[in-house]
Amino acid sequence: VTTRREFIARAGTAGLGATLGAGAGAAEAADANAPAGRPASVPFYGTHQAGIATPTQEHVHFLALDVVSDSVGDLRALLAALSAAAARLTSGEPVGPLRTGVDPPVDTGETVGLGPARLTVTVGLGPALFKPGRFGLESRRPAPLVDLPTFSGDSLQPGISNGDIAIQACAEDPQVAFHAVHNLIRLASPAAVPRWSLAGFGRTLNTRGRPTPRNILGFKEGTANIVAHDQAAFDRFVWAGAPESPAWMNGGSYMVVRRIQILLDHWDSVSLDQQERTFGRHKLSGAPLGERHEFDPIDLNKVVDGRPAISRLAHIRLASPAYNDGERILRRGYSYTDGIYDGAAGGGQLFICFQRDPRAQFIPMQTKLARGDLLNEHTEHIGSAIFACPPGAGRGGFVGEGLFA
Ligand code: HEM
Repeated sequence: VTTRREFIARAGTAGLGATLGAGAGAAEAADANAPAGRPASVPFYGTHQAGIATPTQEHVHFLALDVVSDSVGDLRALLAALSAAAARLTSGEPVGPLRTGVDPPVDTGETVGLGPARLTVTVGLGPALFKPGRFGLESRRPAPLVDLPTFSGDSLQPGISNGDIAIQACAEDPQVAFHAVHNLIRLASPAAVPRWSLAGFGRTLNTRGRPTPRNILGFKEGTANIVAHDQAAFDRFVWAGAPESPAWMNGGSYMVVRRIQILLDHWDSVSLDQQERTFGRHKLSGAPLGERHEFDPIDLNKVVDGRPAISRLAHIRLASPAYNDGERILRRGYSYTDGIYDGAAGGGQLFICFQRDPRAQFIPMQTKLARGDLLNEHTEHIGSAIFACPPGAGRGGFVGEGLFA
């Protein structure tokens, strides 16, 4: 492939050791965008990749790339270049020079003056990278990185599903998240090309102490989620490890992404009672049905007027640990809208979750939800993907390096 030399040369200029163009202003702009009380930047390097246990930022820009080179050396160089660039971006620096004479600028420039805005870039590897005869990586495929089954009611579109490499860019500022994806696409070319992307807002909460945000259905989302500081829950439910994962995935996690279209017209036409029955929670307070406060424990056995307070097909019942062998997942999803076209509103949930083993967590849970969830009347799963997110990298290393060891 002739593209390889070009790619490595370009990745070298763009990602590594490039001198900044005059006026980049990264350092002095670093704090301008930080919400009060929160750090402006989240370190890229560390034991775990950022963007998993990180308290969710306001915005996501999600990208799936397809690798078009068939050389394992190119794949390795691409992952190295992505990490080097992500480290610069998350500290608020441009990926490369903004002034380059007659050549196009290396960094596209739309974040000059914005600061890092708590940007995190989380990298994932899709199952297709491990296909026999492709890169010679089939023996390295982690057992939990299965191809997802087709669930009841799925109407998946291939063009907005799957992908070889995932880039989850989250930030407090949508332009900062977009810029990361924009520049990583340029950097990845021509070894890899974008397959699909989607921007989202309105995060699922994974912390306490701040009001739980609402999704576009008006319900609080994240109430019963795993919280960022719950180390024991992360160790048990989120971080990959032995025996099911290979050593190079230790401290990583498996990400499942679903693009779930919400039929808003239909949802908006049902009563508040019916909306609350669907989730099993009160809309305004967020309390489980039959309780008063958002964080009141969920009592799935509670009976009111001779009927279960929480319907047998309510979303929170079918997704609960009690119905899933005690399993939980870390939800880190967002709402999205793709405008109105042909008179119909397009919008829904970019559902993102992390776990130690999707075979024991997402798959059985989604199998139950797909069959019974009252919410299905209002939703359509149109995109789907699964990725192995390796552990974090140390300085001088890159995310995914262990795959080639
Ligand atoms: C359009 C799609 C979806 C919407 C709007 C949605 C919304 C919600 C809401 C409002 C809650 C209650 C508050 C909370 O604890 O966060 C909730 C809980 C939950 N959802 Fe979803 N959800 C969706 C899809 C999914 C999917 C695909 C899964 C996993 C397969 C899932 C798993 C869960 C879990 C595990 C809980 C917590 C259950 C518990 O109380 O233990 N959700 N969701």
